[in-house]
Amino acid sequence: MHLGRTTLSKFLLQQLKGIEGANDLGALLVDVAAAVKAISAMTAKGALGGYLGELDARNVQGETQKKLDVLANEALIKSCEWGGLVAGMASEENDEPVPIPAEFRRGPYLLVFDPLDGSSNTDVNVSVGTIFSILSHAGDRPPAEADFLQPGCEQVAAGYAIYGPATMLVLTVGKGTYGFTLDREIGNFILTHPLMAIPPDSSEFAINTSNARFWEPPVHRYVTECQAGRTGERGRDFNMRWIASMVAEVHRILMRGGVFMYPRDTKDPTKPGRLRLMYEGNPIAMLVEQAGGRASTGRERLLDVQPAALHQRVPVILGSRNEVDRIERYHVEHDNGTAHPYVSPLFNERSLYRPEVLG
Ligand code: F6P
Ligand code: MN
Repeated sequence: MHLGRTTLSKFLLQQLKGIEGANDLGALLVDVAAAVKAISAMTAKGALGGYLGELDARNVQGETQKKLDVLANEALIKSCEWGGLVAGMASEENDEPVPIPAEFRRGPYLLVFDPLDGSSNTDVNVSVGTIFSILSHAGDRPPAEADFLQPGCEQVAAGYAIYGPATMLVLTVGKGTYGFTLDREIGNFILTHPLMAIPPDSSEFAINTSNARFWEPPVHRYVTECQAGRTGERGRDFNMRWIASMVAEVHRILMRGGVFMYPRDTKDPTKPGRLRLMYEGNPIAMLVEQAGGRASTGRERLLDVQPAALHQRVPVILGSRNEVDRIERYHVEHDNGTAHPYVSPLFNERSLYRPEVLG
């Protein structure tokens, strides 16, 4: 039964043919997949595994760490440190890059990851994920933080796992975005979603509207127009979703289109956004672009942002190409002062400058 299905290993052999360092890259992706299977088993056990709840600790971002955050982090480190494939790793959960223990050889890649994205959702049994990015590392010396600070367009491979009703692994080596579903009975990832493609248009958006008062005018403009539906500028009704788990939002967008935004806001003036560039924004942006979508900060292609720090934050606007183009245009029009006055804060509903008030 089920013979002839394309397993992850078979896919990698075929997909990486002709790519420099194919064997090492394939082996590293298999190691990542092994960690993902372990994390999938832990998340699936839920309360029965004793993994839920918080540790009495905070991570480098000042966020409380869940037990599962720490266990997922260890699963990835242990699965990938021994094989002579990585020169170093960096994780959302570790302040500094994670060195490779002296007894292991160092390899040609850097692995950067968010071990459990959306982990505030674990206790409420909503989908969470693992996000990873693979960069190359030249030379023999152990990598310093500066070696990790490569723009997303330099990524060799990227992917995420989603721990939902089914566990899936979605990855790219720069030749399209492919989805695999974990067959739990035999423990293999099976190719189920070849060449995923994001529809260029969509009527679905995702943003945390509780932050609306902190948004910039172009984001207000876009969301207000979506909310106005068929009676407004867009002439059609939109739907909204917010799962608070980026991997789950992105997975939905890869399957049926849409836009996801965690834009620049003024909530905390020291942070240009909520999401982290190196292990959230960049890998997801590569997957989205490889599926025909777009990923932007609102003002520049996300994959072109030059990182300045490992845990740097970035505004993220991604998904269906034509919608992201439109939101970028709204940023341009705002920045050069040509935005339609309808959206200017001076002309909003409560403003004295409303045309009817002015007479
Ligand atoms: O890691 C950041 C993250 O958990 C994302 O997965 C998610 O999109 C976002 O934060 C949720 O943010 P908020 O708590 O504002 O809804
Ligand atoms: Mn995260």
